[in-house]
Amino acid sequence: MSGFVEKPEPLQVPGLVHLHTGKVRELYQNEAGELVMVASDRLSAYDWVLPSEIPDKGRVLTQLSLWWFDQLADLVPNHVVSTELPKGAPADWEGRTLVCKSLEMVPVECVARGYLTGSGLLEYKESRTVCGLALPEGLVDGSELPAPIFTPAAKAAVGEHDENVSYEEVARQVGAETAAQLRQTTLAVYGRARDIARERGLILADTKFEFGYAGEELILADEVLTPDSSRFWPADQWEPGRAQPSYDKQFVRNWLTSPASGWDRGSEQPPPALPQDVVDATRAKYIEAYERLTGTPW
Ligand SMILES: Nc1ncnc2c1ncn2[C@@H]1O[C@H](COP(=O)(O)OP(=O)(O)O)[C@@H](O)[C@H]1O
Ligand SMILES: [Mg+2]
Repeated sequence: MSGFVEKPEPLQVPGLVHLHTGKVRELYQNEAGELVMVASDRLSAYDWVLPSEIPDKGRVLTQLSLWWFDQLADLVPNHVVSTELPKGAPADWEGRTLVCKSLEMVPVECVARGYLTGSGLLEYKESRTVCGLALPEGLVDGSELPAPIFTPAAKAAVGEHDENVSYEEVARQVGAETAAQLRQTTLAVYGRARDIARERGLILADTKFEFGYAGEELILADEVLTPDSSRFWPADQWEPGRAQPSYDKQFVRNWLTSPASGWDRGSEQPPPALPQDVVDATRAKYIEAYERLTGTPW
């Protein structure tokens, strides 16, 4: 089972047409035809959007994305038009709303990995490859790869997991030229971000980008380099051979799978609401990620 424990009712704002309720974001279109992305405080874990919110999470992730877009601006153009609140929007949207260029999205999740874990590790254990790329023997959970790799995934239908695909498959789908540009840009952006994170004591293990076209121009879209789209690990606790402490959802996962939650992950039951201390600790983690990366107090 998966999905929303409680499906939210999207807010209606005059002048905005509601397009989509994502796990975390609400998408609208404004009268200029731009995309208005509003990041909620929702949190997902184990394929469920939990019934508890993490106060300010949407703001933290939006501000972090904006900060990253700035760090990357000389490498790739991005979709941000403004952070101005649409007329009539509630005050609570402040800080969590981005007005973006509405792009023709490339239907590929552009993942870069510098370390082996997650779905990459699963494939490696079966075939010593990730997305069909051969890797050296002897790597374990959390190992650094000899060099960062582009490991694209096909966007899955709602409720399903994205599926890792080979570079050749991407090239067939979007054309050789676009595929090459996606790979080159993804690895360039990953490299820049990894170096910035490393200076601040964080390992950027992997991350996912989405790109879209405005005419002929390839533009970096969606959210970038947040704890929701990336794995950041505290460098001083990195220890290959085990699961690394994740930056964001560690407390939530630990609690949900502990007897205290009373929840059975394998059952059909939706997960319960989080206790206040888990909410607080998770909020603190998101803020810590923001502060460590940007060097600015939240
Ligand atoms: N600039 C853009 N133009 C058009 N679509 C975009 C743009 N940026 C992001 N998107 C799309 O917005 C959608 C966000 O929805 P979704 O991923 O379901 O939300 P969430 O990440 O909260 O689960 C994605 O399909 C993504 O490809
Ligand atoms: Mg998404």
